[in-house]
Formats: sequence, structure tokens, C-alpha cells
Amino acid sequence: MSDLLTRRPRRNRKSAAIREMIAENHLRVSDFIYPMFIQEGEGVQHPIPSMPGIFRYSIDTLLEELVSVTDLGISTICLFPHYPDEKKDRLATESIQPDTLYLRAIRAVKARFPDLMVMTDVAMDPYSSDGHDGLVQDGAILNDETLEILGKMAVAQAEAGADILGPSDMMDGRVGYLRSKLDQAGFNQVSIMSYTAKYASAFYGPFRDALSSAPKFGDKKTYQMNPANQQEALVEGELDMMEGADFLMVKPALSYLDVIQTLHTHFPIPIAAYNVSGEYAMIKAAGEKGWVDEKKVMMEVLLSMKRAGASVILTYFAKDAAKFLKDSN
Ligand code: PBG
Repeated sequence: MSDLLTRRPRRNRKSAAIREMIAENHLRVSDFIYPMFIQEGEGVQHPIPSMPGIFRYSIDTLLEELVSVTDLGISTICLFPHYPDEKKDRLATESIQPDTLYLRAIRAVKARFPDLMVMTDVAMDPYSSDGHDGLVQDGAILNDETLEILGKMAVAQAEAGADILGPSDMMDGRVGYLRSKLDQAGFNQVSIMSYTAKYASAFYGPFRDALSSAPKFGDKKTYQMNPANQQEALVEGELDMMEGADFLMVKPALSYLDVIQTLHTHFPIPIAAYNVSGEYAMIKAAGEKGWVDEKKVMMEVLLSMKRAGASVILTYFAKDAAKFLKDSN
């Protein structure tokens, strides 16, 4: 019987050396973007209960933390701001105040770590009294009026030194609109990583806790995509391609690996996967209980995103994974 088996796939698994030699995908620290939360104050390192190991930093402690982040070889961070309710209004006015926390933080990071790439979030929700990503009128989320606000936000962030802008709002036409506003303002080298296929997902819960940014009414289903849909991601991808996006992002990642693969197959630009807060929380929680081996599950999950076709992974695991990669060398 055994002599009849000409093809024995197990031969290619017979030793660690051969397994590593023929591995189709690898994780590298350069794959990761580390999302980080900031808030006003001094000396603050405020834990996020639903995201063990993740904190909200004031600018001074953020800069301290970035020493260990950059020492681990992480090349890019993505900043998200927390604002108290009194700073929020319908129009997200706070987002473009020259001295607002977010813009100060971008400037401070770039001054201290000029080589660290800073990605930003372009959306109204951290500054909106309605907690939505767009301008609300009579319970509806307006599209084109929102674009004007996002355009100003984008230019302000570029002026502060942002390297990559992440429009996360899912308004129609925002990539093209932001691209033209940035170019007119002289920022043709500032990149856009579009949240191309961002789903109306329950996996964002811990993030909204971290930023107190949950919608005050309703949900985000009129702008974020329906989890039932894959084909529709091609429409979004096509538009973002035409409008000049440099990267297409899929978010969340783990329940949407098919969407990552589809975009990777159809579009010849880098695909990013956002391994979101709820995905992080689940692995941390099961790891804390001893129900899964947290580090191994983390690496397996991140690798699955690469295998699906992502070349960039936004993940709260960036530091843990960078340490893991360092230690296994
Ligand atoms: C909002 C934004 C969200 C996330 C990134 N940007 C939440 C939302 O759309 O409600 C979620 C990130 C995460 O869950 O880790 N513009």
C-alpha cells in the first residue's frame, strides 16, 4: 500500500527546517500598524478594561511609550483621540482647532520621532455630540455636507505632519474629495488608507468604550456595510481605486477574510486588515482564562490575515507580536 503513494505531502512537513523553507507566508514587524488611544492631561496611562494591555495616554506618556514601540521595530502607529462630551458638537468643530489634542499629539510625535509614520483617523465620531461619523440632521446622516468637514480635518492633520490618513467614515466620495483637498493644499505626498470595506460590526464595542464614542442614537448601518455582503466590497474597492486611495482596508479582519481575499485578487494595491478591538478582546479574555494559548492564537490569527492577502495589519497585538517575533529569532 505505502509504495503506491507517489505523492506524500507530509514529506514537506518532515522537519522544522523544511516547514520553514516552504512557508508561503510570514509575519514581519513591518506588517504592523499599532493603533493607540490618546487623551488630554499629563502623566496619564488609563487602562481600557475591555482591552487588557491597551491604554489611553496623554501626550507625555505617549511619547515615553513610543520609545518601547519604536525599539520593537514598529514603523507606524495610528492615533485615535478621546474627547470629553463638553468638547463635542454637531459639527465636530473641535477636530480642526489648531491647538486641539489630536493635532498637538501628531506634531509632538513627529517632532520627537520623525521616522515613525503616523496614521490618523478621519471621521467625525470622536468629536461629534451625536456619536456618528457623519453630520446628523433630523436623524439622517448627511453625506456631502460631511465631506466638507472631513476635508478640513484631513488638511489640518496633514499640516500637523500625518503621513497616512485613514478615512473611516464610509461616506460616499470621501477618498476623491480628500485627495483633491490634500493636493490643493500641497500635500500630494500624504497617503490615504481608505477604510474601503468597513462593516457595521459588533466587534467595535471595546473601541467605542475606549473613546466614549458610541452613537447617541441608532446605529451605523446606513453608512457601514452589511456583514451579509461580499460583492458590494468590489464596488467600494473600485470607487476607492478610481478616487486615488493608496491602500484598501477591510475591517474587521477575522470574520471578513473572504473580503480581504476578494479585494486582494481584484485590486493591485496593498490591502490592509484591521484586526479590531473586539477580536483583540476575545483572544485576551480566553487567554486570561487559560482556555487558549494567547500568544499562539494571536500569531495564527495574524498569519491568517496575511494568507488571505493583506500586506498590512492594524492590530492592538502589534507590540506582543513584535516581541514574539523578536524572541523566536
Ligand atoms: C470610527 C472608528 C471605529 C473604529 C475605528 N474608527 C469605530 C466605529 O466605526 O464605530 C473601530 C476600531 C476597533 O474596533 O478596533 N470612525
